[in-house]
Amino acid sequence: GKVAVLFGGDSAEREISIMSGTGVLKALQSQGVDAHAFDPSERPLEDLRKEGFTRCFIALHGRGGEDGTVQRELEWLQLPYTGSGVKASSQAMDKDVTKLMWRYKGVPTPGWRVVKSAAECEEAFDYLECAAIIVKPAREGSSIGLTKVTDRSQCAAAYTLAAQHDEEVMCEEFIDGDETTCPVLEVNGEPVALPVIRIAAPDGNYDYQNKYFTDDTKYHCPSGLSADEEENIQRLVVKSFKALGCRGWARVDVMIDKVTREPSLLEINTAPGMTSHSLVPMSARVAGLSYEQLCVHLLTTAAL
Ligand code: DAL
Ligand code: MG
Repeated sequence: GKVAVLFGGDSAEREISIMSGTGVLKALQSQGVDAHAFDPSERPLEDLRKEGFTRCFIALHGRGGEDGTVQRELEWLQLPYTGSGVKASSQAMDKDVTKLMWRYKGVPTPGWRVVKSAAECEEAFDYLECAAIIVKPAREGSSIGLTKVTDRSQCAAAYTLAAQHDEEVMCEEFIDGDETTCPVLEVNGEPVALPVIRIAAPDGNYDYQNKYFTDDTKYHCPSGLSADEEENIQRLVVKSFKALGCRGWARVDVMIDKVTREPSLLEINTAPGMTSHSLVPMSARVAGLSYEQLCVHLLTTAAL
């Protein structure tokens, strides 16, 4: 039947979603799928039914697409969609909720505080007692609104920036060490971890620009970690996926402390990027799955 690739939307990650969706659309069409673009910021989702679509590939990022809202409408329209359901999507969009669930279920994640003012941000800096903290919107993606703070005096500006993107601002302990990410893919109904990617961004700064627009970031896949470390991360990301009740696929961002070598999970992305610079396709390729095969596989996991 007809497949809608949902991309665009009106979140801060719209530009990235358009890159993801364009790639997915082309890939599905190249495999003979009757796929069409659909931007939910331009038309009501009810049109999907009227126009005879039978399944949706969600390539929307951020609030209003990755956060359970579109998923709820698709449930109501009874149109199967890729990725997590309503509850898991909304929990995963909110890093505070994600981390609470993980802590409760024994998944390691750095210490954090949600703050409501610049003064609280300074208090959190003292409380977390580490060399640096990350100040970021609790429900945002692609490093938008994020600042690494190494001195208490930087808290006010960092808070102000983050608060422009979300009324909920998070202060999180910065883990100095290896930055990694690991995709999870549902295969025959079971979540399976793909190879870990180790990211080496210029000056350790894997920001919006270095994520999508420069070619200065180095990606290592195979990761070069020891087999024990790689397997431990894979085990933890599958656990973290199940802990939130995720479905279909996701990508989990993980830091490894350079001294203790302990992994800490930062967040889970339930509609991960599918751009030419994105990491799920890169890892899948190492596992033997082309971008096109990955897209077709993801479509088969579409569910209600
Ligand atoms: N939020 C971006 C799209 C990602 O996680 O890949
Ligand atoms: Mg993210």
